[in-house]
Amino acid sequence: MKREYIRPLIRKLESGMMNKFGQSPLYARKVTTHIDGVAVDDLVKEFGSPLFVFSEKTLREKYRETYSSFSTRYPNVAFGWSYKTNYLKAICAIFHQEGAMAELVSQMEYEKAKDLGIPGDQIILNGPHKPMETLETVLADGVTVNLDHFDEIYDLEKVADKLGKKLTVGMRLNMNTGIYPQWSRFGMNLESGQAMDAVKRMAKGGKLALGGLHCHIGTFILEPKAYAREVEKMIQFAYRVEEEFGFEIEYLDLGGGFPSKIRLKGTYLSPDVGIPSLDEYAEEICEALWKNLKPNHFPKLILESGRALIDDAGSLITTIWASKRLPDGTRAYVADAGINLLFTSFWYKFDVALDRPASGPNETSVVYGPMCMNIDAIDEGTLLPPLSRGTRLIFTPVGAYNNTQWLQFIEYRPNVVLVGEDGRVEVIREAEDLTDVARRERLPDRLRVYPKSRPTASRTG
Ligand SMILES: Cc1ncc(COP(=O)(O)O)c(C=O)c1O
Repeated sequence: MKREYIRPLIRKLESGMMNKFGQSPLYARKVTTHIDGVAVDDLVKEFGSPLFVFSEKTLREKYRETYSSFSTRYPNVAFGWSYKTNYLKAICAIFHQEGAMAELVSQMEYEKAKDLGIPGDQIILNGPHKPMETLETVLADGVTVNLDHFDEIYDLEKVADKLGKKLTVGMRLNMNTGIYPQWSRFGMNLESGQAMDAVKRMAKGGKLALGGLHCHIGTFILEPKAYAREVEKMIQFAYRVEEEFGFEIEYLDLGGGFPSKIRLKGTYLSPDVGIPSLDEYAEEICEALWKNLKPNHFPKLILESGRALIDDAGSLITTIWASKRLPDGTRAYVADAGINLLFTSFWYKFDVALDRPASGPNETSVVYGPMCMNIDAIDEGTLLPPLSRGTRLIFTPVGAYNNTQWLQFIEYRPNVVLVGEDGRVEVIREAEDLTDVARRERLPDRLRVYPKSRPTASRTG
């Protein structure tokens, strides 16, 4: 058989210089043949490629480790699992089994939590969009509601009238903790006096009591001291509110935002070096609590950590479908998973491992997905050895936000499996097929092309 002609190309051997912070470039020579003891090959044979794989062991270990970082430093701690980070039923169920409450931001998420049987007193509802019907339902169910804006105060007063009782709710704050850009679009601003105005308005209305404070300063916060500032400001505000209005602040909810060990695009340091440990966050937060709270006063500390609890537990297996040489000489691969499945690849650079050793010189490569779209690249700039068709790449950590932000776009979404602590593999979300895509669609009969619809009897005929 005549072999295809490939134009010879001379390229500099890329042995990998250190960057200006003394870090090596990103190589993908790591070989991952198993995930939690299960062969990647077996996983793909049984469940197909691409495939999301979650480790139950990692999920539980991470939760316990993080919980104990806080509970060993402060006596009254609760975690609320941030549904938006990953609301697959099995994932939520694992965190609930571990003792987490549900932290929700929509009616849909509330319905998901109720579907799992979560009682109202184990639910926190945040977010800027809480329709009246949602507020009525959740408040009758005993859910903790953190209000976001003035219009919600008026809505809550109407709900109080309807339910015929005074309602205790929390308030989301936003504040300057030295983090740039400051998240100011959610909640009431502290420094401008807006938050205090809101408390005054609640007191004056007489239908609402303030029972807790919430603040989520942002996501992937790399400065633990920002949380110490948040705690200090929240406590000062809580004591002012208690003194001036007689409300009792029973909880301080610090939101989420702790980073996972993932590389944010554009950062030089590897996550192992550049990302503080969760213990450092716990230390800053709990020290600030002890320093600023009155003696023997221990309001509940609530944490809504999302990505830090789950990211490490998720892997995505994808298969090299084709390789190409771009006109500028860049080595490119087409994989069967793209931004449709790894939405967070816009911001994060994942670790890429191969399922088998590969020999040959490294080349700076780009891994495209299967979308017929120019922006569909899930890895750019990693030094990859020559990869043959069928090689599997294992992307980690991908547990956070990808199974909620993924798109049903061009391709079906694949299976998601959970590797149990005993090594058993179970499907926790089935791969989609046409029924999922078409279920809600309606085709008016007059638009049917094949088989041709018969014209309906004419009015005059
Ligand atoms: C109110 C609230 N809580 C918790 C989280 C979880 O954040 P993270 O995944 O950064 O921990 C978010 C994420 O945006 C949020 O908006």
